[in-house]
Amino acid sequence: MQQQQVPPEGGAGSADRPGSTQLGTDSEPGSRRVETGSGGRASGGQRFEASGITVRFGGLTALNDVSLHVEQGEVLGVIGPNGAGKTTLFNVVCGFTKPNEGSLTWRGEPLVGLRPHKLAGLGIARTLQGVGLFAGLTVVENVMTGLHAHAKAGFLSALLALPKSDRDERVLKERAMAALDSVGAAGYAGRYPGSLPYPVQKRVALARALVLEPDLLLLDEPAGGVGHDDMDELGETIRHLSGRMAVMLVEHHMDLVMSVCDRITVLDFGKVIANGTPAEIRENPQVLAAYLGDEDDDSGLADADSSPQEA
Ligand SMILES: Nc1ncnc2c1ncn2[C@@H]1O[C@H](COP(=O)(O)OP(=O)(O)OP(=O)(O)O)[C@@H](O)[C@H]1O
Ligand SMILES: [Mg+2]
Repeated sequence: MQQQQVPPEGGAGSADRPGSTQLGTDSEPGSRRVETGSGGRASGGQRFEASGITVRFGGLTALNDVSLHVEQGEVLGVIGPNGAGKTTLFNVVCGFTKPNEGSLTWRGEPLVGLRPHKLAGLGIARTLQGVGLFAGLTVVENVMTGLHAHAKAGFLSALLALPKSDRDERVLKERAMAALDSVGAAGYAGRYPGSLPYPVQKRVALARALVLEPDLLLLDEPAGGVGHDDMDELGETIRHLSGRMAVMLVEHHMDLVMSVCDRITVLDFGKVIANGTPAEIRENPQVLAAYLGDEDDDSGLADADSSPQEA
């Protein structure tokens, strides 16, 4: 069985993935819903908090005493000019990068010794900047890989036509179809990723993270390579998702950020320079100065009309 990665990686995301681990896909969905004392879903304490995170790479301080939080029902945008530390922050949240200082708390419990393969068990899923789908599997099979550890009879044995439980397969497929449906991609279930437009592939990758029913979803530039119409749909999908989970969104497309985020944290040179609602962030002089000073900036924020929007 050949399972090659579809390679339409577009940007820095691939460099952010030591070992190309596909978070939320090949980790341990079977072990999730770990109750964490005071913080399980039943208690309603779906809050993620980062406190005083500092990351140094040699002499460079990529993150400097960064604190932020996000709760269920919220979309938190994390923005900032190139090199501000957004990806480093995401990597800390996912356990890729160990901070020199600071702490992470999830559902009221400290996340100590966080490792990427433990994330799914904690109800945390991440989409990659690219898509990372398996070219040799259909769309629905790709999404099912996000669930394979749930199956009593393994998903891979099913693919290899070994004896297995048909019932398990059916349940997995139903869940995968529901996840595809939630991102409007159910109609592509039987197709192979390579035959689909890039924005559809991104939606399938999102479905694969959603099939785990995460409580915290980390979206790494979900609009990368996506056109305007698809971006509107993506915005609606993200808003819809936030009803069931907390969402952290790293994104350069300011239209999307401004329309879907409840709050935004702005990083510049590793420091938090602003926190606020989209309207507050648009008008924050420090934020505008940070973007104006970024010669490579193509976010449009510095050019954005900062006047209040009339109804
Ligand atoms: N592994 C690493 N080793 C050394 N320096 C690093 C490493 N990863 C990131 N950096 C540096 O840390 C700083 C923050 O980088 P990071 O990738 O987090 O920025 P970013 O906000 O994601 O930027 P972009 O918008 O361009 O993706 C940059 O100066 C970058 O060069
Ligand atoms: Mg980055």
